[in-house]
Amino acid sequence: MLGKRSNKASVETESPVSVPGPQHVAIIMDGNGRWAQKKGKIRTFGHKAGVESVRAVVRFARQNDIKSLTLFAFSSENWKRPEEEVSVLMELFNLVLNNEAKRLHKNGVRLKVIGDVSAFDDKLKEKIRKAEDMTAENEALVLNIAANYGGRWDIVNAAQQLANEVVTGAVSIEDINESLFDSKMSTADLPELDLLIRTGGEHRISNFLLWQCAYAELFFTDVLWPDFSEEVFQEAVDDFKRRQRRFGLTGDQVDVIAK
Ligand code: IPE
Ligand code: IPE
Ligand code: MG
Repeated sequence: MLGKRSNKASVETESPVSVPGPQHVAIIMDGNGRWAQKKGKIRTFGHKAGVESVRAVVRFARQNDIKSLTLFAFSSENWKRPEEEVSVLMELFNLVLNNEAKRLHKNGVRLKVIGDVSAFDDKLKEKIRKAEDMTAENEALVLNIAANYGGRWDIVNAAQQLANEVVTGAVSIEDINESLFDSKMSTADLPELDLLIRTGGEHRISNFLLWQCAYAELFFTDVLWPDFSEEVFQEAVDDFKRRQRRFGLTGDQVDVIAK
């Protein structure tokens, strides 16, 4: 299994113009707190500044034929932060949904929130539902906001759904394979994850898309999230295009497939 689509097109190297870019990019938007602290400000100043980088990456994704962009906004572990920081992050999420949903819709962006939204208050849940409904038919880009998201939660959630279907008789244990499991993940129906970017200098996944990272290319940058720009995004995409994705094959085999 080479993933949901053939890797044939992804490994062409002859002409740089014909090398396809990633279809699904995920970003761990890290470094807001340090960015603010470096400026002598409180951490939440950095979260507010980070919203502008979100706008920039959405714009970049739309203009560069990326079909799906998944942004890590709040992890299942981030609840452990000081109450005040968590509450500013929730307010910011509310505010962004208020201010940006219409603009996203106008630009043909479909908004989806992935993660355990049941933990959010009713007002926020309602805003999420409305924004998702309003943009449901849009096709220019799928923007997934991972909020109260954990990679382990995603896998457990998929396992629970399958277990339930086994109990009701809808699925037999023998039917469970990678593709059925994948269809229960929060990223079902999206293209396979091609590129994972992490800003802020740390080289770890921090419980993000664990299942989906299986064959993603990883790109780490020291740039702190509020300083992330279309230029750095372009650098990550160019780097991605120069890589040979082998999916377990030898480099020679991949070259043959690419011809
Ligand atoms: C990422 O920036 C945003 C969230 C986790 C919500 P951080 O807040 O983790 O910033 P640093 O890593 O402490 O600088
Ligand atoms: C990951 O960043 C979560 C988000 C960017 C939303 P963290 O700052 O929470 O990750 P750790 O704690 O440094 O691993
Ligand atoms: Mg951090």
